[in-house]
Amino acid sequence: MSIMVVKVAINGYGTIGKRVADAIDAQDDMEIIGVTKTRPSFGCDLAVRKGFPLYCTFDEPERIAAFAPAGYDCKGGLSELLAAADIVVDCSPGKVGAQNKQIYEDAGVKWIFQGGEKHVMTGLSYTSSGNHSENMNQSGTRVVSCNTTGLSRTLVPLLRKCGSLSVECTMIRRAADPGDSNKGPINAIKPVLKVPSHHGPDVMTIRPEISINSMAVAVPTTIMHVHAIVATLPQGHGMTTESILDLWHAQPRVVIMNGAETGITTTAEVMEFARDIGRKWGDLHEIFVWEDGVKLDGDTLYYFQAIHQESDVIPENVDAIRALMGLESDWNVSVSKTDKAIATYNGL
Ligand SMILES: NC(=O)c1ccc[n+]([C@@H]2O[C@H](COP(=O)([O-])OP(=O)(O)OC[C@H]3O[C@@H](n4cnc5c(N)ncnc54)[C@H](OP(=O)(O)O)[C@@H]3O)[C@@H](O)[C@H]2O)c1
Repeated sequence: MSIMVVKVAINGYGTIGKRVADAIDAQDDMEIIGVTKTRPSFGCDLAVRKGFPLYCTFDEPERIAAFAPAGYDCKGGLSELLAAADIVVDCSPGKVGAQNKQIYEDAGVKWIFQGGEKHVMTGLSYTSSGNHSENMNQSGTRVVSCNTTGLSRTLVPLLRKCGSLSVECTMIRRAADPGDSNKGPINAIKPVLKVPSHHGPDVMTIRPEISINSMAVAVPTTIMHVHAIVATLPQGHGMTTESILDLWHAQPRVVIMNGAETGITTTAEVMEFARDIGRKWGDLHEIFVWEDGVKLDGDTLYYFQAIHQESDVIPENVDAIRALMGLESDWNVSVSKTDKAIATYNGL
């Protein structure tokens, strides 16, 4: 029996786009038919090395023509790429998505946006564990931000177990991605003065039953975010610290380690761990929870988790394609297929 192979275009081949492209390329039920760059730059070399056809983000002939003198074989503009695609994963910088959505709809392709776009623009959002089935066969969705994805990974299983949850969290955010040279702060702690911040409430676009608020600060680091979370469980929840840890151990894409026993007590060591186990780009798709930082005190649960901002959303994009294209209705089956294929490219 032949399986359907979904033709995927990547619009925006930057930090997220290059990772999503590799994760899709590793799967047997989807293929990359092209990636876009706005202009010839060093990122084009990666696309060429991977063998991904290179397109221009725009259709203007002079922008397409600019690639050849720099030594790149540009196959055409975005319209030509979309004409051959079943679905496009938009990995453009946040807030340019709205203008792209109309282009995708006019081209008749399904679309996925990233967490830099607002839920009101897409009308539907996605995390693998949170609402895969609601995304089945829809025309488009938004894979939520790295922070919302991270919150969803640990909170949704708790919601399923307890029936309701009330959550306050503080997001200690990296100032910039490692490849960014124009962001900060470099020697300050910068509170997000819009309170509550958008991060926590964004979880409710996935599971509105979780009542959640957040505050955020940006700190001078580039490698991970940390969440300090306080969750109130409903009375009569019947959980213990140990049973919550067991629940998370059973979840895909959550790693739990004891800081005191392993010596992994900071985000620097978490990232070193990711590099040690051979992850491409040193990525960690899983959410990292410190076992010895988890405590249930009566109805109040305290815990810390670390988020690798550039990579936790990557496998979610693959699962979102399966949902939109109607390829797999069981989120657990999709997650396991996605992660097995990615483990192969990681050499694991
Ligand atoms: N970085 C993270 O940690 C992270 C985590 C989760 C979600 N996200 C979200 O993912 C999205 C992409 O972020 P990113 O960090 O990957 O950004 P990025 O590294 O700046 O990459 C953006 C890419 O989009 C291209 N581009 C620029 N204008 C475009 C347009 N009008 N249409 C299509 N493509 C365009 C750029 O092309 P050139 O390379 O030619 O300039 C670049 O390749 C954002 O919504 C962001 O909020 C980011």
